[in-house]
Amino acid sequence: MKTWLITGTSRGLGRELTEQLLARGDRVAATLRDPSRLAGLAGYGDRLWVRPLDVTDTVRLREVVDAAFAELGRIDVVVSNAGYGVIGAAEELTDDHIDDLIATNLTGSIQLVRAVVPHLRAQGGGRILQVSSMGGHMAFPGFSLYHTTKWGIEGFFEALAPELEPFGVRTILVEPGMVRTSFYSAVQRAAVHAAYASNPAIMRGDAVPVEDMPGDQAKVAAAMIDAAGLDAPPRRLLLGSDAYGRVHAALSDRLADVEAQKDLAHSTDVS
Ligand SMILES: NC(=O)c1ccc[n+]([C@@H]2O[C@H](COP(=O)([O-])OP(=O)(O)OC[C@H]3O[C@@H](n4cnc5c(N)ncnc54)[C@H](OP(=O)(O)O)[C@@H]3O)[C@@H](O)[C@H]2O)c1
Repeated sequence: MKTWLITGTSRGLGRELTEQLLARGDRVAATLRDPSRLAGLAGYGDRLWVRPLDVTDTVRLREVVDAAFAELGRIDVVVSNAGYGVIGAAEELTDDHIDDLIATNLTGSIQLVRAVVPHLRAQGGGRILQVSSMGGHMAFPGFSLYHTTKWGIEGFFEALAPELEPFGVRTILVEPGMVRTSFYSAVQRAAVHAAYASNPAIMRGDAVPVEDMPGDQAKVAAAMIDAAGLDAPPRRLLLGSDAYGRVHAALSDRLADVEAQKDLAHSTDVS
């Protein structure tokens, strides 16, 4: 039996992971803003440990993490999952949009890592799964703030992984494409500025049509569970045909740009 700690377990991927793990006999420290949302998951006894947690509350986050390790003894896998999106051109965003999204998706994820790492080191290892996105490699116009958080957390983990590997702590950036969760119905929308109203590049409308989202929530969660169980897990887990196609195209374009600048790059060295 493995023990997992997960943020944002009320719905979507966090909830799906929680249910699959409990069903297979693992133990879950489930954290979420409103614990009553897990009332339907009765019957798992002490294999389900639930605490309220808003990941933007760093003091509370450290208390919950410390209590989880103290009461459960060992936590094998930590999943930093809580997150949401805001749609709007950069000029349309409010200061609150910026502060709240960065506090949740980026600072909340960084502070979770900082809270769990001393415990993982002390117990001799573990796994940290950070839910990033294909949007940590490419970007949709009108989604700049969300991409800021996912590109940001990718950079954090890029540096973090080799810091932690000597301690037996392995990290996995989970990079799904569009998955059929409640993400798109929960997305916040900035008020439309007239100058951007007819810009076709910016996603508007009520929601992305579900038939345009290839990702299966249950399969994505299952792939995350499988990856966490590997002796040598990949640092990045790309999930979804859209994720594969868009990330492949974005990286190919960037590599072509790098090649095109080879001579210029070398020309600015001290001669
Ligand atoms: N669905 C996709 O297409 C997709 C693609 C790539 C990456 N992702 C990423 O996958 C992760 C999970 O999203 P999802 O698709 O499962 O979306 P979801 O169904 O909307 O679930 C989001 C979860 O995050 C929680 N959450 C939001 N803000 C929080 C906060 N301040 N503190 C604690 N919990 C908070 C929500 O809790 P409440 O119920 O309290 O709001 C909910 O449990 C996110 O990091 C998202 O960026 C999703």
